[in-house]
Amino acid sequence: MKLKDKVVIITGATSGIGEACAMIFGQEGAKVVITGRNAEKLQHTKDKLEILGIDVLGVLADAASESDNERMAQAALNKFGSIDILINNAGISMRALFEDLDLSVFHKVMDTNFWGTVYATKYCLPEIFKSKGSIVGVSSINGYRGTPARTAYTASKYAMNGFFESLRTEVMKRGVHVLVACPGFTASNIRNNALTAEGQSQGESPRDEGEMMTAEAVAKAILQAVLKRKRDIVLTRQGKLAVFLNKWIPGIMDGIVYNHMAKEKDSPFK
Ligand SMILES: NC(=O)c1ccc[n+]([C@@H]2O[C@H](COP(=O)([O-])OP(=O)(O)OC[C@H]3O[C@@H](n4cnc5c(N)ncnc54)[C@H](OP(=O)(O)O)[C@@H]3O)[C@@H](O)[C@H]2O)c1
Repeated sequence: MKLKDKVVIITGATSGIGEACAMIFGQEGAKVVITGRNAEKLQHTKDKLEILGIDVLGVLADAASESDNERMAQAALNKFGSIDILINNAGISMRALFEDLDLSVFHKVMDTNFWGTVYATKYCLPEIFKSKGSIVGVSSINGYRGTPARTAYTASKYAMNGFFESLRTEVMKRGVHVLVACPGFTASNIRNNALTAEGQSQGESPRDEGEMMTAEAVAKAILQAVLKRKRDIVLTRQGKLAVFLNKWIPGIMDGIVYNHMAKEKDSPFK
């Protein structure tokens, strides 16, 4: 097994895509380091992984904190002696018109999704140079195409894509693999926890989560892409179509995306 005894750090692994990545990489023989902000959820995920015989370290850490990311990398090194793969997955979303959005919410989304990625990558990179391993950014279709009422989220994902395109090119002769994974709509807690204009969790998803790709299918695609050292993956048929059309007919896509998103339950625009 190519992943046997590799050390994989997955940020935000107590739910959704991160938890599914921890499961699948662990089942392939990797040692996994998982993070999250909630001690109970972290312990719960750790227990689930251990029952499957997976060697796991849980680190209570906020992705938005530089010192927590430094501590996370050090804890992984202390426990397992190396870092082979970093999956920058921790993320939050928001839903509100920009004109109504408290700027503290914009900062929170950027601090978690973008700065969290920068900090984790910074502190893991020296070890990943040694192991000639992989850095993964779990971005989004919103890293290619913006959606209304998701300004902060879209900005954070475009920023991730730009950061990784630059870094990938910078390290291309140093044996480090950089993958940007862009899931489409995936069933998870992301929309339940998405922040309102004032920074509260919106509490429920405005979309039919049952219609979406599963977190397990996304994790499987990420695993395959890491093994094949791909540069990027774009997931779901709808997601691939959106990226393609936005490249060639971005003006027409503005109208298509507006009309599509306006149909969401309780959309802040019509
Ligand atoms: N679901 C989708 O439709 C979709 C589509 C495209 C991209 N994505 C991306 O996929 C990634 C995972 O999202 P998901 O859909 O799996 O959502 P999810 O079910 O809400 O999981 C998010 C995970 O991130 C953790 N997290 C959030 N803020 C954090 C912070 N500041 N520090 C550390 N951990 C934090 C959460 O744990 P705690 O709350 O306990 O900290 C949780 O474990 C995100 O980057 C998201 O943008 C999702």
